[in-house]
Amino acid sequence: TDPARIRNFCIIAHIDHGKSTLADRMLEVTGIVEGRNMRAQYLDRMDIERERGITIKAQNVRLPWRTAPDTDDAGIVLHMIDTPGHVDFTYEVSRSLAACEGAVLLVDAAQGIEAQTLANLYLALENDLTIIPVLNKIDLPAAQPEKFAEEIAHIIGCEPDDVLRVSGKTGVGVPELLDEIVAKIPAPTGDADGPARALIFDSVYDIYRGVITYVRVVDGRISGREKIKMMSNGVTHELLEIGVISPDPKPVESLGVGEVGYFITGVKDVRQSRVGDTVTLQHKAAAESLGGYRDPKPMVYSGLYPIDGSEYPLLREALDKLLLNDAALVYEPETSAALGFGFRVGFLGLLHLEIVRERLERESGLSLISTAPNVVYRVVMEDGTELVVTNPSDWPHGKMEKIFEPIVKATLIAPSDYTGAIMELCQGRRGALTGMDYLSESRVELRYTLPLGEIIFDFFDALKSRTRGYASLDYQEAGEQESQLVKVDILLQGEAVDAFSAIVHKDKAYAYGVMMAGKLRELIPRQQFEVPIQAAIGARVIARETIRAIRKDVLAKCYGGDISRKRKLLEKQKEGKKRMKMVGRVEVPQEAFVAALSNA
Ligand code: GTP
Repeated sequence: TDPARIRNFCIIAHIDHGKSTLADRMLEVTGIVEGRNMRAQYLDRMDIERERGITIKAQNVRLPWRTAPDTDDAGIVLHMIDTPGHVDFTYEVSRSLAACEGAVLLVDAAQGIEAQTLANLYLALENDLTIIPVLNKIDLPAAQPEKFAEEIAHIIGCEPDDVLRVSGKTGVGVPELLDEIVAKIPAPTGDADGPARALIFDSVYDIYRGVITYVRVVDGRISGREKIKMMSNGVTHELLEIGVISPDPKPVESLGVGEVGYFITGVKDVRQSRVGDTVTLQHKAAAESLGGYRDPKPMVYSGLYPIDGSEYPLLREALDKLLLNDAALVYEPETSAALGFGFRVGFLGLLHLEIVRERLERESGLSLISTAPNVVYRVVMEDGTELVVTNPSDWPHGKMEKIFEPIVKATLIAPSDYTGAIMELCQGRRGALTGMDYLSESRVELRYTLPLGEIIFDFFDALKSRTRGYASLDYQEAGEQESQLVKVDILLQGEAVDAFSAIVHKDKAYAYGVMMAGKLRELIPRQQFEVPIQAAIGARVIARETIRAIRKDVLAKCYGGDISRKRKLLEKQKEGKKRMKMVGRVEVPQEAFVAALSNA
């Protein structure tokens, strides 16, 4: 295909602003899916995506547009590249953007722009993409296109009249939008005769075909039956198939400048075909890669344990399987006195954690418990040695000189009535206000620097409840800062329970200790002796609760000599014991740990 006839674009939108619905309409309008074969959200193929209504992995599609059959006019080839919508996947978003020349900025005409969208818009502008502003859902009675067109115009610096109005639901304005994409977004340019270079912007594991890698060709041409080379590590692969998605996979001879498609090499693991890597040909390799490649970096760690200890091998199997499909996942075995055998797992962020946990539970039928998540700390000891701590149990004992924690730049958007509530929340989380803008009279954008460790601790919930769900949040990693952090241990009868240790700011250690000790007092049944629960920093106890002693006599209730009833009771008691964990001399039902962690 002549690059002049190609347009590559993506859609930037907040969750629920109607990206999938609009994409469906585009499939219909361009005629590649007939109305009767249309099912809602054709492009979202993963169950979880469908159920949770979020896009986890990009799907992209090639759309023929304005082709005139029976003439020489081959029309236009549109490549729509889907971008994941969540904050944990910023790197993947940046790579999908890098594969496009333009972006449709899609905003719900009843809601206005949200923090997520704004953050991705900035990313698109950094990548020099042409932005096409669009208000969606104009069929809604609650739509306020005038108001929000003005807001968008103010943000991107255009006229309110330049903002297109569409309805993904009814299809109004969709053909006009496609024409606007053709008119405004530049055609791709590249060196057609140079050595081939293609950007990997997505890579998914398919149980039948192995890894399917999505690429955008920048220079040269890649054709089937050639050996390709991954530029990050020099590994070569045989090309088994090369094709385009329209809307189902369709093999082609080759892909040239500006074209978007997929290839299959038979590799079984997405880590061998990483997002952001440059693909070239082995026999005529490019000298320089496209740039922007980065190894995925876990930002949040948590322990994952099977509730039933005998399911540990199943958990290992399930993680190994998931790894084929998730290049960002890292894990290693871990044991906990409280929870038994499990894994220490690294995630890109909280949503990634939730998705992984849900997929493990759903796809393998496991019941899991995860320990409170923590970020990655860098500790410099007094003797000059330096270590990276991803697990509270690895917190050093010696004298620490400096401790660093990761920070993020956060953007919050909310109705201006909630400004005070948001400021209060962010200050309570050690945030520093760096900027504030009114997007319109009634909506405000706040910018904060916040420790990531404070955000992963129920920040979303707190924000939601303080703003009745009207605030949106986005953040990007922004380096590290030195902080006064301490490790708080929770002790039962003098024995630390590893699963409850946490690294917190020193001003918050007391609150954490009191909270955990109080919770455990409620959850742990009385024993035959008194059990102190303590929270401690090193050897210094900062909070204490006590579980009073009781003599549990199950037989006391049985007055007569009914021996069979007695036996039944004794057996029942024995069964109950099986699910007990011993912490020192203290018997703790597994459920107590689970309960204490699940609402931590
Ligand atoms: P994610 O995949 O989570 O990013 O969501 P999305 O942006 O793809 O949104 P989706 O297309 O799933 O639409 C969200 C909701 O809005 C659904 O209930 C749609 O039926 C509805 N919706 C989408 N477009 C329109 C529209 O033009 N008009 C109306 N009235 N509703 C719409």
